[in-house]
Amino acid sequence: MEFSSVAEMFRLDGRTALVTGSSRGIGRAIGLTLAAAGARVMFHGSKESAALETAAREGAGEWIAADLGEDAECDRLAGETLARFGHLDILVLNASVQEYVRLGEYTEEEMRREFQTNFGAAFRLIERCVPVMRERRWGRILTIGSVNQFRPSPRLTLYSATKAALRSLTVNFAKSLAADGITCNNLAPGVILTDRNEAVLRDPQMRQMILDLIPSGRFGDVSECAGAALLLCSPAGAYITGAELAVTGGMHL
Ligand SMILES: NC(=O)c1ccc[n+]([C@@H]2O[C@H](COP(=O)([O-])OP(=O)(O)OC[C@H]3O[C@@H](n4cnc5c(N)ncnc54)[C@H](OP(=O)(O)O)[C@@H]3O)[C@@H](O)[C@H]2O)c1
Repeated sequence: MEFSSVAEMFRLDGRTALVTGSSRGIGRAIGLTLAAAGARVMFHGSKESAALETAAREGAGEWIAADLGEDAECDRLAGETLARFGHLDILVLNASVQEYVRLGEYTEEEMRREFQTNFGAAFRLIERCVPVMRERRWGRILTIGSVNQFRPSPRLTLYSATKAALRSLTVNFAKSLAADGITCNNLAPGVILTDRNEAVLRDPQMRQMILDLIPSGRFGDVSECAGAALLLCSPAGAYITGAELAVTGGMHL
């Protein structure tokens, strides 16, 4: 594949994308970056919110609210996206839930919620979207993992396990979908400044303890995940599949 310019390597004109959990944080940055590269983007959040509407407006895209803890909602999200866009080229599975609890404090309900939202929903959305990608013999599936898929955590045990399962699903799909022109990759963020970890990082002792675990000596910015995501979703990433890209400042090492 030859490109006439560097910019062309990363252009997504005519492509459509669904980015789950793109009302805020990393998903929002990825959605806006794909939109800036020319893609028509479906923004998504767990519920209707001003943040979701604003993200969609900024990315000149559309939005759908759906709770990925429910199978029927996953199906509705896929169905409505395909109906509105006609086809789907890029699927970014970014939404997740997590709960800081230790062994003995988990409930059965929390276990089901985390596995359903972080893993089950991804499986379901991939299953619904792959047939349309196959028809056009072009597709990009990107799952968002976590540094916790490399580093066990006593307070995020279930969450870490859902991310490890998601990573395994990604590389398995990568192998079976490569011949159809569909790549499947995993991006694993370290500590990125978003709403999710705001409360934890407000505690000065905790903040320093976490910083000490990061070789680059700083937290990451959402834009640093978005740039890596663009590579994996763009024409430039056509020959990258089954990759696990750590965007962690070295924290996974
Ligand atoms: N931030 C980090 O340091 C970090 C580190 C490692 C991995 N990650 C991973 O990166 C991804 C994004 O993290 P983030 O920090 O950007 O998250 P965030 O700021 O907490 O945003 C979460 C997004 O997911 C949506 N969401 C939450 N629960 C949902 C549900 N049940 N159904 C559907 N959507 C739901 C939220 O929608 P609403 O706006 O409607 O709530 C929001 O759009 C996640 O997969 C996370 O595990 C993040």
